Amino acid sequence: MQIHVYDHAQQVGQAAATLLAAQLISKPNSVLGLATGSTPIPTYQALISLYKAGVVDFSSASSFNLDEYVGLPAGHPCSYHSFMREQLFDHVNMPADHIHIPDGNAADPQTECARYDQAITAAGGIDMQVLGIGRNGHIGFNEPADDFTYGTHVVTLAADTIEANARFFKSADEVPRQAVSMGIGNIMAAKCVVLVATGENKAKAVYDTIRGPITPRVPASVLQLHPCCVILTDREAGKLMLEE
Ligand code: GLP
Repeated sequence: MQIHVYDHAQQVGQAAATLLAAQLISKPNSVLGLATGSTPIPTYQALISLYKAGVVDFSSASSFNLDEYVGLPAGHPCSYHSFMREQLFDHVNMPADHIHIPDGNAADPQTECARYDQAITAAGGIDMQVLGIGRNGHIGFNEPADDFTYGTHVVTLAADTIEANARFFKSADEVPRQAVSMGIGNIMAAKCVVLVATGENKAKAVYDTIRGPITPRVPASVLQLHPCCVILTDREAGKLMLEE
């Protein structure tokens, strides 16, 4: 693992965007794995700036998002489809048919999971996967569990995740209880992984991910086994690492 602790969250975003830009420059038809949540927003802002400055081009690139809530139509303001449009896709030139996000509103979520895995395989796999991290160590919506899950699957969200994500909804009651998420196997199959974490409430999850045992109780800890994993944090999220 490459671990970089920056002074500010903005620098984390700049660093992650730099890695994504380098990926796109060296392989214009890269397959990017993308994440939602507040943490990658500065990354997407920095990437949009690089696009507007003419440094990166998304016209041959494609993307697969990690996850989507079950039961939210793509047009719902709290869907991850909406989030990605607002935070990235409306501002860059990735063709619409190159953008893949699980359909949380599919009539049969299991069939949707299989379709999504097949689409990732057909695209040649993910070149660079962006990850945030949950306070409980989740990646995508792979919640703490007894086992790692390989492929895209339907997840029941942990109580802590519902509480953490309630800020995006009118109330915790409105947060969907399930999601479709890429599995740990999908994430580990990415050629390179870039995990961004900012804020003190991620410090324990970051520490356990990097220094703790590899366990499905801290899903991100599996990244210790990834051959190309870069972890970018600000001082707050890297706090427990710095105190060592
Ligand atoms: C959600 C997403 C995760 C994300 C996590 C942390 O649960 N499914 O992919 O990493 O939130 O989000 P934030 O960056 O807002 O703390």
